Amino acid sequence: MNSSITQKEYQGRIKRIIINEDEIKKKIKKAGKWIDGLYDGNPILLVSILKGAFVFMADICREVSVPCEIGFLCAKSYYSGTESTGDVKITMDLDRDISNYHVVIVEDIIDTGRTLNDVVKILKSRNPLSLKVVTLLDKPSRRAVEFEADLSLFTIPDHFVIGYGLDCNEIFRNLPYIAEYNQDYIE
Ligand code: IMP
Ligand code: MG
Repeated sequence: MNSSITQKEYQGRIKRIIINEDEIKKKIKKAGKWIDGLYDGNPILLVSILKGAFVFMADICREVSVPCEIGFLCAKSYYSGTESTGDVKITMDLDRDISNYHVVIVEDIIDTGRTLNDVVKILKSRNPLSLKVVTLLDKPSRRAVEFEADLSLFTIPDHFVIGYGLDCNEIFRNLPYIAEYNQDYIE
């Protein structure tokens, strides 16, 4: 289906930029300092949830000055197009035991809260030294389960957004900014 999207539709689906590259950069610098302050020189493990958080991870890990390792897990959630189906599955797990690590989860967006709620439960059961959650975006108005990140860089209204790692049907992840997705596009 995606392979048949025209350039015109691709452009038309990008409704408007809501957070530009500069704003993202500035907030990520601050977030790096926040992490440094929390761990005071102690080593940490940054865990990114694929695929959406891969761009955020690449940028935030370069703003952190404490010794830092990187891990990835893939939590496949529920989005068919722009709507939640309610299932969260870990389809690719971390490659190490986290019991000796201060873990910081790096997530792209908290929407219903289901993904992080489940992932945090699973990782806590593995007894890390500590566990914190940093999210780039937060849509608090959409919460289905109670969940709050330790640090949220931007709070956004209930719009489906794309870019900077976030997709709609696997495209738009490479946009360098966050944009509102145009659901009503007609060619
Ligand atoms: P939650 O489990 O509903 O909190 O959703 C978390 C996951 O859903 C995120 O990691 C994203 O991959 C995806 N998601 C939620 N909202 C959006 C959006 O507006 N655009 C793209 N992906 C989204
Ligand atoms: Mg996603």
